[in-house]
Order: sequence, then C-alpha cells, then structure tokens
Amino acid sequence: MDKLVINGGKSLHGNVDISGAKNAAVAILPAALMASKDVCIIDNIPDIEDVHCLERIIESLGCEIKVNKNSVTIDSSILNSHDANTEDVRKMRASYYLIGALLGRFKKARVEMPGGCPIGVRPIDQHIKGFEALGAKVTIEHGVVIVEADKLIGTSIFFDVVSVGATINVMLAATFAEGTTTLENVAKEPHIVDVANFLNSMGANIKGAGTDIIRVTGVQELKGCSYSVIPDQIEAGTYMIAAAACGGEVTITNVIPKHLESISAKLIEMGAEIIENGDSVTVKSNKNLKGVNVKTLPYPGFPTDVQQPMSALLCASKGRSLINESIWESRFKHVDELKKMGANIKVEGRTAIIDGADRLTGATVKATDLRAGAAMVIAGLIAEGTTEVLNIEHIDRGYPHIENKFNSLGANIKRITVK
Ligand code: EPZ
Repeated sequence: MDKLVINGGKSLHGNVDISGAKNAAVAILPAALMASKDVCIIDNIPDIEDVHCLERIIESLGCEIKVNKNSVTIDSSILNSHDANTEDVRKMRASYYLIGALLGRFKKARVEMPGGCPIGVRPIDQHIKGFEALGAKVTIEHGVVIVEADKLIGTSIFFDVVSVGATINVMLAATFAEGTTTLENVAKEPHIVDVANFLNSMGANIKGAGTDIIRVTGVQELKGCSYSVIPDQIEAGTYMIAAAACGGEVTITNVIPKHLESISAKLIEMGAEIIENGDSVTVKSNKNLKGVNVKTLPYPGFPTDVQQPMSALLCASKGRSLINESIWESRFKHVDELKKMGANIKVEGRTAIIDGADRLTGATVKATDLRAGAAMVIAGLIAEGTTEVLNIEHIDRGYPHIENKFNSLGANIKRITVK
C-alpha cells in the first residue's frame, strides 16, 4: 500500500493537463459491450484504478480488450456472457452499468451488487424502477442483481430523484427497447451527454441528453465506433481549487470551461482570478481568499464531487463558510482528518461550518474516500510542514498520477510504498 508524503507551503505555477472524465469512462466502457459488430476504439481514457478494474471485468466476460496508453480497443462482438460476478464487480460503483448494458443486449443480466465510496446510502431503486418499467423482472438474490425480460418495450419514466447512475443505466437498456422511451427528471451532468454521444456514435437514437427530458428510440443493433471521452470536470475542479489554495498561477488545459462554471463562480466570489481561454482555464490567486457558502446540487449546480476538495480550501480562507451537502448524507468523513491539521470545522447534519484558520499544519491523515483523498492532498499542499496521506488507494481510483501532476506545478509530493 502506498502513501503520499507532502511538503507543503509551496505556491503552484505552470500548466497541468486534465485527463478523460472518470465518470464518463466508467459508463462508456460497459456501454461498449452493447456493440455486436466491429470494435470500439475509445480514446482519452484516464489511467486510474476504476478503469483498470472495468477493463479486467470486460476481459473476464470474454471480450477482447487492448490498452495502448489512453486508448482502449474493445471487441465485444464475441461477448456471450451476461453474468458479471467477480471480486472486481463488487469493488466499484460503476459496475452497475453492466446491468443496463447486458440487459439491453441480451435481455438478461446477472451482476453482483456494486461497491463504491462510503459517502452515504447508495440505493439503486431508481435503476430498478426504470428496468421494470421497460418490462424487465428484477430480483436480488445472495447479493446478485438478476434482471430478465422477454422483450424491452419503450415507455415513459419519471425518476423520483435526479440520479446520474439511473439516468445512464436506463438509457443503456432503453437503447434496445421497442419504440420510444421518454426519461424525465433526469441528470444533466456532462458525462450523461458524453455517454449518449457515444451510444449515438454506435448507432443509437438518443435525443435530449443534457436537458430535462431524454428520448431514446430503440434500435436493433449497435456497432463499434471511434470515440474520445470528454475531459474530467472534477479533476479540473480539483486542480483549480488547489491553485487557488496554494497561490500562484496555474493554467488547466484540456478542459471544457462551460463544465467548470459553478466552480469558477465560487473561486471568483472568494477573490481568485479565473481566465477562460478556449480549452483552458487559468487560476491566479494571492492566497488571500475569503470564505463563501456552498450548496452541492446536480449539474449545473456545484458538484458534490468537488465539495471535499473545496472544504480544504475553505479551511484556510478568511471568515466563516457553510457547506450544505444535498446529495450524499455522509460525505463529511474527511472533516476529522482536516481537524488533525488545525482546521476549525464542525458538522451539523448535512452542513459543515468552517471558520477559516490562520494556518494548517502537516499531520498524518487518511483518505477516507476518493474525493476526501483529494481534499487531504490539497490540505497538505497548503499546510506548514509535512503531511502524510494514507489509504491513497482511494485517490488512485480516480486521479491519474496525482503526485506527478502536482509536482510539475512546483509541489513537493513523494509516493512511498508502505510494506
Ligand atoms: C454518480 O454516482 C457518481 N459516480 C458520483 O461520483 C457522484 O457523486 C454522483 O453521481 C452524483 O453526482 C459515478 O458516476 C460512477 P446518483 P451515482 O445516482 O450515480 C440517490 C465520485 O466521487 N439515489 O446521481 O451513484 C442517491 O442516494 C463519485 O466520482 C436514489 O435515491 O449517484 C443520492 O442521494 C462518488 N436512488 C442521489 O440520488 C437511486 O436509485 C444522487 O445519486 C439512485 C440514487
């Protein structure tokens, strides 16, 4: 197991290139299983453990998969299994997309219940509601989700909650339903649009992704295509926040600035300067930032996945800040770790109350989940002295080469293997 050792207090300068979006890639890879002809060549795939885990699952299902740096070629024409039951499936949340993809293609799927970050209760009732509405029978036996249908028939589905996973999963299955499926109260995150674009490149007929209503007209068959995954909104937001926190001038390249607007707006409100330029965003900060209030919301609101990194910045900003986490009820596990570094932060229900500290000091802390890990890295970059971040397997699930990217900006982070 590795740990990160951070010598903090350095300002950040230079350019950092953002990788492909994790939460798009982990849906697009299972979606590729729906092509029964030709290969899918998918570029800009991030080099992260969640992707490696899915690649192993896809191989274990009998597909041919070739990985060449950030490009993955999948031949799923030979796929004949609808049964995804490996340890890897249990490890990650996004393995639930195998249900929608396999149900669509084979009209049946047997998939282990998905795992994922411990950030709250993570039900899949809206996924199940969608599959059932399409005509599938869903049972859960011994921790395995079993979904079967004689045929899938297009219908209207109004989701009870706005769910990224349910929107994508039901969109996957509906691609092979007879007639048109209308999905309402859907998520509008950039990765929803990216998955719809990928499916359309394979021959699907999906309209309205990115708006409140998605219409999927079923097709008989999908075939392989070439596709490039969008840049990671959350990775970009993490580097923007780190730049604001450490001071300096950092240009974050290979981004879609529109996807970052809620984050840019908060950083501007705090006193940082943000310059958008084509596919890059530059953050200039003198570290003299003031606290703000943040409420996490579905896109285009402030992303829950950036809440934890943002809280590290707010711990070192002037005055009082309030964070309201409206998506996940337990996404404050990093707070106790921040306190070890001198942060004045307390949690009441779904709200964190932060009184900016004059300084944070290095300590040994844990990454309790993926974005908590990013928060601890940012806190370590701000802090005086040395911070050791343990349990960084969480960070490796979603941030490619985090220490190399930060070190290229002037940070001092070492990865050490702990025996
Ligand atoms: C996705 O999780 C992301 N994961 C999460 O990112 C992200 O935090 C989340 O969307 C919200 O943006 C992936 O894309 C793999 P949801 P997901 O379904 O799809 C409730 C990260 O850090 N809900 O949009 O699992 C649920 O409890 C990860 O990269 C139901 O009630 O989230 C939550 O309160 C962590 N029933 C809300 O909806 C359901 O059937 C949003 O969840 C599904 C969800």
